[in-house]
Amino acid sequence: MPATRKDEISSILKEQIKAFDYDLEMKEIGVVVEVGDGIARVFGLQGAMSAEIVRFPNDVYGLVLNLEEESVGVALFGESERVQEGDEVRRTGRVLETVVGEELLGRVVDPLGRPRDGKGPIKTTKTRKAEIKAPGVVERLPVDTPLQTGLKAIDALTPIGRGQRELVIGDRRTGKTAIALDTIINQKDKGVACVYVTIAQKTSTIARVVDTLERHGALAHTIVVASEANDSTPMQYLAPYAGCAMAEYFTYAGKDAFIVYDDLTKHAVAYREMSLLLRRPPGREAYPGDIFYTHSRLLERAARLSDEHGGGSLTAFPIIETKAGDITSYIPTNVISITDGQIYLETDLFNQGFRPAINVGYSVSRVGGAAQTKAMKQIAGELRLELSQYRELAAFAEFSADLDEESKAQLARGDRLMEVLKQDRYAPMPVEDQVVSLYVAVQNHLADVEVSAVRRFEEEWLRFLHSEHEEILDDLRTRKELTDDIRATLDHAVAQFKERFGG
Ligand SMILES: Nc1ncnc2c1ncn2[C@@H]1O[C@H](COP(=O)(O)OP(=O)(O)OP(=O)(O)O)[C@@H](O)[C@H]1O
Ligand SMILES: [Mg+2]
Repeated sequence: MPATRKDEISSILKEQIKAFDYDLEMKEIGVVVEVGDGIARVFGLQGAMSAEIVRFPNDVYGLVLNLEEESVGVALFGESERVQEGDEVRRTGRVLETVVGEELLGRVVDPLGRPRDGKGPIKTTKTRKAEIKAPGVVERLPVDTPLQTGLKAIDALTPIGRGQRELVIGDRRTGKTAIALDTIINQKDKGVACVYVTIAQKTSTIARVVDTLERHGALAHTIVVASEANDSTPMQYLAPYAGCAMAEYFTYAGKDAFIVYDDLTKHAVAYREMSLLLRRPPGREAYPGDIFYTHSRLLERAARLSDEHGGGSLTAFPIIETKAGDITSYIPTNVISITDGQIYLETDLFNQGFRPAINVGYSVSRVGGAAQTKAMKQIAGELRLELSQYRELAAFAEFSADLDEESKAQLARGDRLMEVLKQDRYAPMPVEDQVVSLYVAVQNHLADVEVSAVRRFEEEWLRFLHSEHEEILDDLRTRKELTDDIRATLDHAVAQFKERFGG
């Protein structure tokens, strides 16, 4: 609409409203002066708060986003076709809330908490604000309890602690979602409530995720907050905040929660679209200037609360999709700087069959080490050292034909270590299984096993231990430490196992 016409309408409306002569009401009721693309510009709501919910006729709701002198910009939820110029808009005095509660577990809902799975109404009356101020420093404790993903490459090398924010980053189709789903599956019977938020995903992709969770018995402890590709941008924008509120319900009840935002790249795009429609000045890569704040205030809500505040935790895995592995573009650098580390996935590794395709050299966890069990820490230390030497040597070996025996042996050991870090999807492992798997590699028990046989060796080794030496695993479970006597019994068991293993 040309600016002149808009101004005209505004002035006409202003005149009309003046005629009513009730100042108070003028702040509480406004009039739509422009509507389109899921955004309405409303005149006469000067009293409205940012993020307040306003009501249009026909039960359409909107979220106040832009407060300007003359008008406010409102993002519409649902069918914007039902809103017309001249429609009355009422304040509700409430900021956006979503339903929360245990009743949501096992369900697929939209960002307003309405069922999206056809399983009938959700019987909860509890609500929470979609946006809250993140807990401050005094309300927080340092991370000290592990959140096991069940993936060796992560639990050993980039361990996650409860309350941590770890970025999962990589190009498209590198297994980002798979890592998040494995982590959710691994929380089964661990008392961690999970929330999986989809942002602008295809309906079929969401259905596949729900199906995967269900098949692995993980839907019962999970809430799927789904915003789809054909939802309005305000709905897509809102999804992570609403999901976060649903997860926080558990956190502030003293429980542990885990949330995945899949993905924040699409979230940034939705926010950019909304902002352009609201005619906010675009900044770098046409994103609005406050995109950093948009993501940081979301991720700040992940926390380990102190005991006085209930002692609950919220661990978050934001996902970011990169283009051609470029982590230096605007949104990735932003999110890298607000998280406590990143799990970096690579297309090359993925295509070479190294899955999960984690580049262990580029991945870090800045706080999770404090949360590792002692046994895992012992193994991880040895593993990390071996791997970094291996990487250096492998880079060197590419250009050199004759290597000394020692280097060859080290390369052979590294090849086997890398092999042991591979893992099928949907097969998370308990930490003691991970420890004994990595143990054989780190202790060089695989020297006489062909690289191609390493994964079969691992599988059968675990099966052997579970069937004949469960006591070693029990010991590890209870003592959480690789004591000398456990090492000795493991070495003995490996020797025993190798006699049967047809290498
Ligand atoms: N550890 C694994 N082992 C074998 N296959 C895997 C593994 N991880 C992921 N895959 C497969 O690779 C494909 C891509 O995985 P996934 O959907 O998790 O990637 P993504 O990075 O989330 O992709 P998108 O960019 O489409 O969101 C899927 O078909 C998935 O099943
Ligand atoms: Mg994905």
